Amino acid sequence: MSEPLRIPTPLLAPSILSADFARLADGLKVMEAGEPCVVHVDVMDGHFVPNITIGMPVVAALRKETKLTLDCHLMIENPGRYALEFIQAGADWVSVHLEADPHIHRTLSAIRGAGAKAGVVLNPGTPVEGLVDLVGDFDFVLLMSVNPGFGGQSFIPRILDKVARLDTLRRERNIPFMIQVDGGVGMGNARELVQAGADVLVAGNAVFKAPDPVKAIAELQAKMSAR
Ligand code: DX5
Ligand code: ZN
Repeated sequence: MSEPLRIPTPLLAPSILSADFARLADGLKVMEAGEPCVVHVDVMDGHFVPNITIGMPVVAALRKETKLTLDCHLMIENPGRYALEFIQAGADWVSVHLEADPHIHRTLSAIRGAGAKAGVVLNPGTPVEGLVDLVGDFDFVLLMSVNPGFGGQSFIPRILDKVARLDTLRRERNIPFMIQVDGGVGMGNARELVQAGADVLVAGNAVFKAPDPVKAIAELQAKMSAR
């Protein structure tokens, strides 16, 4: 078996959802202090998930404040309707839920066509095998390790098996898409997730509810790099 197809260094993506919404620029400064970081932006519409958070104007405001990669996780119905607006607002990566889009191939093509990285998101109960006929049409897969809607939930351990199955799929197909994991990630599971094949770990509460978020980022990155 050839070497695993992964990005050279696993990346931490702190979720701005767990930061202070009245001081989002301070949240960005924490991530800049901990570079390399990807800024994970949780977009929720109150329909696909039972919470309402951030829209395009906030993404545009974040874009003005930072050069870090903006990773917009769209937890919304009809994501194809809005994906390009998020790219225009400044998103570098846009991910859409397989469960929310009957025309996901079209949406992924549109995201890539607009110059952004396209991701497919799978809820905990959605099997990775649902992606088999999309391999090559996305840049990354986001595996939810909680049911989407809120930060601070507990990690669902069987997601580790999904990471490993996706890692096998990308090796078999020789297509190096990234694997991202989101929900309940922290010091207790970061290394295990990277060892299973994850390239990008999202962490909300583990960063922003820590007493020292900059230190928390450094500690998580150290765990992740000990692959
Ligand atoms: C949940 C969001 C996550 C969330 C992660 O629906 O997609 O990105 O912010 O937060 P933690 O790391 O606290 O579980
Ligand atoms: Zn998310």
